[in-house]
Amino acid sequence: LKVTVLGLGKMGVAVADALVTAGYETTVWNRTPREVIKGAVHASSASDAIAASPVVLAVVSDYATVRALYEGSTGGALVNLATGTPEEAAEMAAWAAERGIEYLDGAMLAVPQSVATPDANFIYSGSTPVFDDNRKLLDVLATSRYLGPDPAVAPLWDTALLGVGYSTLLGFFHAAALLDTVNTPPSEFVGLATSWVQGMLAWLTELSAEIESGDYGNAVSPVDLNRIAAANLVDTSLARGVSAETLLPFRALLDRRSADGHGADSLSSLFELLKKR
Ligand SMILES: NC(=O)c1ccc[n+]([C@@H]2O[C@H](COP(=O)([O-])OP(=O)(O)OC[C@H]3O[C@@H](n4cnc5c(N)ncnc54)[C@H](OP(=O)(O)O)[C@@H]3O)[C@@H](O)[C@H]2O)c1
Repeated sequence: LKVTVLGLGKMGVAVADALVTAGYETTVWNRTPREVIKGAVHASSASDAIAASPVVLAVVSDYATVRALYEGSTGGALVNLATGTPEEAAEMAAWAAERGIEYLDGAMLAVPQSVATPDANFIYSGSTPVFDDNRKLLDVLATSRYLGPDPAVAPLWDTALLGVGYSTLLGFFHAAALLDTVNTPPSEFVGLATSWVQGMLAWLTELSAEIESGDYGNAVSPVDLNRIAAANLVDTSLARGVSAETLLPFRALLDRRSADGHGADSLSSLFELLKKR
């Protein structure tokens, strides 16, 4: 029941607190002494902290920092929760293997205040034994999901999910700019926008099935219909002096798909233009 947490930034504090509360013998270390975690042992060096437990959760800023903290340490299990790229994760797994460290990569789909609540989801890939052996501990922090032995997969999912989020946010910022032309503040609009996006999200499952099957016929929302809607959105923006730059790539994809003879296909068929050749 021993665990070490490296890094007591915003996420590290939340992770360490949750583990102490759940009854784990928790050792913590942070470069700059700041937060005191009640009930945890504060190690005086990163290497002491690493040596104190069979499993180490790294919650520092990036992968390079994790490697630097492991200078001179070998063995044990490392769960790396720092945000990074799939390529960094693959390099990190090779680096860990050279040092006899069992490596599990992780990504935290959470904010500090949602750690250890039902809103937190942590995804993992890499060493199956590290995930299986520490499942109970990891479940303290979030709903855990293991995505297989390739360490690059968890950061790939993390990056992909970030893209989904950014598209939604960008759409909202553009909408705020449009409504600003009639002096409507975003606070008046956010409730309806939230409900609209929720309805949209419910549609994702159907779109996923279309992408998976490659069957884009019988579309409720075909490419050509959306070409008209996207053109309206661009024209309305420009007529009001609002930037349309967030929408132009979307309209260009719709135009290309239609020009290729797929105007009657579902909107989800844009996937065919985006996927790896
Ligand atoms: N905040 C979020 O909402 C959130 C959500 C999901 C994922 N994440 C990811 O979680 C990781 C930690 O985020 P955070 O929000 O906790 O960041 P943070 O509050 O900025 O904390 C960063 C931590 O990394 C340590 N650190 C940075 N450079 C270091 C170095 N060269 N040597 C030793 N320690 C170093 C800091 O130590 P000092 O205190 O000494 O500076 C601190 O403990 C990041 O990869 C972030 O992308 C964050």
